[in-house]
Amino acid sequence: MLISYGLSLLSLLCLVLCSDANGARFAKYSFNRWELLEYRAQVKELFYFAHDSYLTKGYPFDEVRPLSCVPKGRNFDDIEDTITNDVLGNFSATLIDSLTTIAIFNDKQKFQEMIELVRISFRNKFDLDSTIQVFETTIRIVGGLISSHLYATDPSKCVYLGSEYDGFLLQFARDMADRLLPAYLTSTGLPLPRINLRHGLRNLTADLVAENNVAAMGGPMFEFTILSYLTGDEKYAAVTRYAMNKTWSLRSELDLLPMSFNPANGQCYSHFTGIGASIDSFYEYALKGAILFDDAHLYEIWRDSYTALVNNCKADWFYVNAQSNTGQLSAPWIDSLGAFFPGLQVLAGDLEDAVFKNMMSLKLWNTFGGIPERWQFQSATTLQQPVGSAEASKNFTVEHQKLNVPLEWYPLRPEFIESTYFLYRATKDPFYLNIGIEILESFKTRFKFACGFGGIQDVVTGEVQDRMETFVLSETLKYLYLLFDEDNELHHTRDNMIFSTEAHPMWLKPDVILQYSQNKRFDDELYLRHLERHRAEDARLAARRNKGFFGRKRLAGLAKSFFADEELRTDMNDSQETQPDEPPICPSVSTSTYPWSYSPTLSYFDRLFEIDYRFSDTLIRPASMANRDPIETRKGFYDQWADSRHASCRVPSTTESFELILDVPGRSSPVRLANGTIKCKTLSGRWKFRVEKLQPGKTDVYGNRITTTPFQTADCNNIFRPDQHFDPRTPTLLYQVTALNGLALPHNATVVFDRNNILNNPEHRRTLYELFGCNPQSQLLLDSAPIINLYLS
Ligand SMILES: *[C@@H]1O[C@H](CO)[C@@H](O)[C@H](O)[C@H]1NC(C)=O
Ligand SMILES: *[C@@H]1O[C@H](CO)[C@@H](O)[C@H](O)[C@H]1NC(C)=O
Ligand SMILES: *[C@@H]1O[C@H](CO)[C@@H](O)[C@H](O)[C@H]1NC(C)=O
Ligand SMILES: *[C@@H]1O[C@H](CO)[C@@H](O)[C@H](O)[C@H]1NC(C)=O
Ligand SMILES: *[C@@H]1O[C@H](CO)[C@@H](O)[C@H](O)[C@H]1NC(C)=O
Ligand SMILES: *[C@@H]1O[C@H](CO)[C@@H](O)[C@H](O)[C@H]1NC(C)=O
Ligand SMILES: *[C@@H]1O[C@H](CO)[C@@H](O)[C@H](O)[C@H]1NC(C)=O
Repeated sequence: MLISYGLSLLSLLCLVLCSDANGARFAKYSFNRWELLEYRAQVKELFYFAHDSYLTKGYPFDEVRPLSCVPKGRNFDDIEDTITNDVLGNFSATLIDSLTTIAIFNDKQKFQEMIELVRISFRNKFDLDSTIQVFETTIRIVGGLISSHLYATDPSKCVYLGSEYDGFLLQFARDMADRLLPAYLTSTGLPLPRINLRHGLRNLTADLVAENNVAAMGGPMFEFTILSYLTGDEKYAAVTRYAMNKTWSLRSELDLLPMSFNPANGQCYSHFTGIGASIDSFYEYALKGAILFDDAHLYEIWRDSYTALVNNCKADWFYVNAQSNTGQLSAPWIDSLGAFFPGLQVLAGDLEDAVFKNMMSLKLWNTFGGIPERWQFQSATTLQQPVGSAEASKNFTVEHQKLNVPLEWYPLRPEFIESTYFLYRATKDPFYLNIGIEILESFKTRFKFACGFGGIQDVVTGEVQDRMETFVLSETLKYLYLLFDEDNELHHTRDNMIFSTEAHPMWLKPDVILQYSQNKRFDDELYLRHLERHRAEDARLAARRNKGFFGRKRLAGLAKSFFADEELRTDMNDSQETQPDEPPICPSVSTSTYPWSYSPTLSYFDRLFEIDYRFSDTLIRPASMANRDPIETRKGFYDQWADSRHASCRVPSTTESFELILDVPGRSSPVRLANGTIKCKTLSGRWKFRVEKLQPGKTDVYGNRITTTPFQTADCNNIFRPDQHFDPRTPTLLYQVTALNGLALPHNATVVFDRNNILNNPEHRRTLYELFGCNPQSQLLLDSAPIINLYLS
């Protein structure tokens, strides 16, 4: 009572204050309190516009079509239409998935109305003859119901319902979970991708269950474990966690996880891996599960998988796809789902890299007005420019642009705004609010249609999409609202609140945790036997494995792999080398009107425009985007927040880089930079050096013009192979290490191997001499040229 009284007083106060806010206090791009409240209100208004339209034109079906204003439901005629049917189970998906956005608005009346609608819609719970995807149904439906239940039962929340609520949402969640759980009764313990809600495993054709991905095999562990805490029934956690463990056990020796498996036998379909579709939530739930359940083993999974990603897939502006068995680049594109990763990096504490990776999403948005499902960072084969009509020439341009976006749609996915929200919470840099304003504007204009929000079917042609997936209301608009909602209770709570992968807030109170640890039970024979059988089998296999040789056998070898995004520079027209090293765009503006406060990203990040330059051949604006300013240089925003005394652009590099992988038997130790030096005790383990070729006249990755000076002093004589004689006076090339195992080295940093340790180990000694060489200054040599910052000491 007291709480709700206090709140209504507050909102009354706010109402009074806001009413005169519009004129004097609202100043675009100032981001003062009144401005933020205004943006927040606009997001809420947009949400209710689409939500009302779903209720009147879509409900009880799963979605409403934003352009044609008719319901979009399951495709009952074609059971093989999995794109539709995996997520639309004829269970009013939009209604359930958007409940927690309303809870976050603190709109108690609406929240109560909507959960009552859920109650009367599902009198028979989820007894539906629908074959759906287990993972999607878990995150949208089970997750939506659990999180709503948490809101309804937590007295510290504004939408707390107290005795008016009987806990039925949790019963519904459990009913759904019970229908999904039989998918785990396989001979591997890995779940089948799909199941029928009424008939279980009975209706599934072979091609519907032949392939599952690692996000879907590991992910449900998160929602199901919370369900165990809330119901006291351990089976949900145990069965799904076993599958998470098993999934992780399928990783390669490099700790990289292939994405796609046959759940019936654990065979992998390809070695392809990365951070996007099919694997995203695996990383996400390893870390989020570790935090929410205080689980050290899940943290190990996160730590080891992230380290492997950094070692093998990290490029400056994104994570590339790699082969899980070799760590080599496997496809020159990134996908839109990977845009969530910076948000996860913020949660893990790696803010610096998160800033870089989110910048890529920003530039994609600048170019395409959305994030294409797949964008190619290496230019596709060049087409022959046609001679002739203007129309043919226009067709050619479109064809050419399409090649760079192999999957061309943007269905209003949340990942970019999600990461932007996390970065704003961590930095409070208004740069991120400005991104939010751009997205808000797009929702008010480009994406808004008669009955909701429609995404883009083709970012090149601008064709629109007559579909509003449930995540638009559940995630995209929720994160956008929270970005502008400084006061939200979520930002001040002392609970260990974690967003699910569908943006449903989850938390566990200490009394719930205590009760579960004391009273949990596992009384379902079927699942108990299933787990016991698998554990016995695992133990038998482990024993057999131990009888053979133990440990990893690896070859010492040096693999040179071209580093894709740097490699783009090699086809640069040479005549550019002689042009002055001017940055491509670096707007200059007059002194800011707020001299005491600048956006750090806008003012002190000297690589803000590097992506535009480096990927200029594949970030090609479609005609519909031709006249839009980049988000970061919108005039009002730039004038307000850029510190023109500092704002500068690093001169883009014109050198070529490649990667060296050195694989030596034994365990490696993590690399750490101290006082500009990385000290390496031994050669054991896997080393991945990014190496830059230094040639006179080029500009290195730190923006420095390479003069001829270092070449005159460099000594290329190999002291270990005196038979190889090089003329020390005329080297044409030097090398420089710019990153080691994913850690970017600052300018002038050195990498030092321990001379005594290495020379005392005959195998390491030989490896070093055979693969490299060493000059009298103790610099290692590569193809007879010194690597100027790689030493023995
Ligand atoms: C799908 O849901 C609608 C609305 O609840 C209902 O009328 C219809 O019978 C359902 N169809 C099937 C095949 O379950
Ligand atoms: C599933 O199987 C049951 C009988 O086992 C049948 O009545 C039902 O129509 C089937 N459903 C689908 C979608 O094939
Ligand atoms: C998962 O693996 C961890 C670490 O080996 C172990 O402690 C835990 O019991 C496993 N969980 C299940 C359900 O197998
Ligand atoms: C250009 O594209 C349009 C639409 O695809 C097509 O109808 C037309 O024939 C094309 N024109 C030329 C000259 O290729
Ligand atoms: C290089 O660029 C210059 C100026 O843009 C142009 O004249 C020349 O033809 C180009 N050379 C090649 C090989 O593309
Ligand atoms: C770094 O250098 C400073 C000053 O030279 C020294 O005091 C400090 O101990 C060094 N730190 C490490 C980790 O070597
Ligand atoms: C790197 O070393 C050069 C030459 O010693 C020096 O001029 C330059 O300032 C140094 N750069 C940094 C970033 O320390």
